[in-house]
Amino acid sequence: MTDTSQPTLADAQPFLKWAGGKGQLLAQYDRFFPTDRGRAYFEPFAGSGAVFFELRKRDLFDDYALSDVNPELINCYLVVRNQVDALVEALRAHKLAHEQDDHQHYYEVRDQDRDPAWAGASEVKRAARMIYLNKTCYNGLWRVNSKGQFNVPMGRYKNPDVLSEKRLRAASLALQNVDVNTRPFTDVLDHAQAGDFVYFDPPYDPLSSTANFTSYSADSFGQDDQRRLAETFRALSDRGCKVMLSNSDTPFVRGLYEGFTVHTVTARRAINSKGGKRGEITEVLVVNY
Ligand SMILES: C[S@@+](CC[C@H](N)C(=O)[O-])C[C@H]1O[C@@H](n2cnc3c(N)ncnc32)[C@H](O)[C@@H]1O
Repeated sequence: MTDTSQPTLADAQPFLKWAGGKGQLLAQYDRFFPTDRGRAYFEPFAGSGAVFFELRKRDLFDDYALSDVNPELINCYLVVRNQVDALVEALRAHKLAHEQDDHQHYYEVRDQDRDPAWAGASEVKRAARMIYLNKTCYNGLWRVNSKGQFNVPMGRYKNPDVLSEKRLRAASLALQNVDVNTRPFTDVLDHAQAGDFVYFDPPYDPLSSTANFTSYSADSFGQDDQRRLAETFRALSDRGCKVMLSNSDTPFVRGLYEGFTVHTVTARRAINSKGGKRGEITEVLVVNY
């Protein structure tokens, strides 16, 4: 049955599935979130924004800023914020076409970015395509080849959740007045001030050399990036910001954040890249407060 009640801020949650999404960890993070009112909240590795949506509901900050290097992802946030009616209509059309012939519609939409004319597609069309592919592709992965073309095969879902209107409208409410930008994490240094709260959820340091899934965008995130991130964390801390960071529990990560408080949380993750085997592993949550 379709839920037709009006969405409120309390319903806001991620509208995309995202590798490394933090939804399952929120309950464990809860006691580490700041409780004092602050000027601004920054999330420079937005992904699906699980922590953002949670903190936005608590209304602890005057201003919120979300950013990520993936321009298609950021376009989705902007369209959900500014043009949600048009987005709902575009997704309704995808849903119908998918119900008629899922295979044909999926591959037609997937291959749109091979056509040079796609570069001129509207923001709404691009956002609807990304959300449609996210709900119907294999494992909700966002993976592009070296030319930036999306190359994930179709997933096997009976009733993919192509259009969740209530969820999109609740997310749109949560995003009103939120500053949303495509930019690298280092830019947070140009914006965060003493007393602000910054949460970093970077691509994780790989647990083993074969587990380096870092294809969130055309670029990967290596050890030099992890080092730069630790320097950014330290600089914000010295400035008087509250800073929190998630990462995998590896000696390299612990070494980078020596001197800060390192909590551990347990997560269920794919521990084997081939069989999709899942198990409990520990992850770190680093804070400077
Ligand atoms: C682990 S995911 C974030 C998951 C998110 N917290 C969630 O709940 O869905 C990491 C994100 O970092 C982004 N990213 C990778 N390199 C980046 C960089 N240099 N600056 C900013 N964002 C980057 C990726 O596009 C990806 O969305």
